[in-house]
Amino acid sequence: MTSDKVSAGDAGAWFLGDFRVNRIGLGAMRLTGRAAFHEGTPRDRSQAIGVLRRAVELGVNHIDTAAFYFSSLRSANELINTALTPYRDDLVIATKVGPVRDASGEWAAPARPEQLRGQVEENLRQLGRDHLDLVNLRIMGQAAISEHFGALAELRDAGLVRHLGISNASLDHLAEAQAIAPVVCVQNRYGIDARGGEQMLHACATHDIAFVPYFAIAGDGRESGAGRSEHEQVLNVAHAHGISPAQVRLAWVLHQGRHVLAIPGTGNPDHLIDNLAAGTLQLSEEELGLLDSIGHPAV
Ligand SMILES: NC(=O)c1ccc[n+]([C@@H]2O[C@H](COP(=O)([O-])OP(=O)(O)OC[C@H]3O[C@@H](n4cnc5c(N)ncnc54)[C@H](OP(=O)(O)O)[C@@H]3O)[C@@H](O)[C@H]2O)c1
Repeated sequence: MTSDKVSAGDAGAWFLGDFRVNRIGLGAMRLTGRAAFHEGTPRDRSQAIGVLRRAVELGVNHIDTAAFYFSSLRSANELINTALTPYRDDLVIATKVGPVRDASGEWAAPARPEQLRGQVEENLRQLGRDHLDLVNLRIMGQAAISEHFGALAELRDAGLVRHLGISNASLDHLAEAQAIAPVVCVQNRYGIDARGGEQMLHACATHDIAFVPYFAIAGDGRESGAGRSEHEQVLNVAHAHGISPAQVRLAWVLHQGRHVLAIPGTGNPDHLIDNLAAGTLQLSEEELGLLDSIGHPAV
């Protein structure tokens, strides 16, 4: 499909709180380099900026980022600021706090509740904003999150943050957070071959909140990205439609519910177009059954 025929709105829209966003957004983690974080070659700066601007031109109005998305020479937040200011009124920038990386990129102990304000302010400075649309608490394995989520709820009450979400969360985390403040989304790992999150997918539908899967394309490649050998079922469906396996993976997550918001990560302009085009793909019941068999092999 050519770039003038695709739109992020082709897959419809859903809500992040009172923000209505197109169901295909953009993950900013790949703007800094093909492999996330410090590994690999930093992306060409003008290409990354071009991808951001093209995405927004084509209707992307949900961008997922974090202050800890940086490589040796690139910061996702700085690229977003440079590419997209002045920001469009309908653009929702979601960020996340919790993980801590020092200036040389080393990971440190996760933020304590009293450090979250500083992380929110770091995002505000880098993005050049006076409030953040959506902040996800990225849970770093802790069983209880009420102190962390409570600290973010205070920042929301203070007007620094409009909406809150949680990431890497269990059902218990969701219940704990919802007892403190409204949760507008859950961002968890989920995809055609990573089905552990199905209960959360359904819980989000029940609560009418968005479910935002990550690694939908990368799968087991995780931070190192796509490029592993692909499942035969994905290849067969891709072949039948004349599209790429990545597009099948994205279409599959979009078929899991109207409340699913995709955030494919790319710094490649051709992949951006492919990812938006995946929003028009209709998978038949037979194809969905075939693809479902990957996550639920017959016993
Ligand atoms: N909450 C969390 O803990 C968490 C964790 C990880 C990620 N995230 C967020 O979720 C977003 C998505 O995750 P992700 O970026 O890791 O993985 P992803 O979207 O599943 O896949 C990205 C990988 O697939 C490649 N790719 C993208 N579109 C493609 C296409 N059409 N054809 C072929 N290859 C394609 C990318 O390379 P190219 O750049 O070369 O296209 C990159 O290697 C991230 O950007 C980030 O915003 C959140």
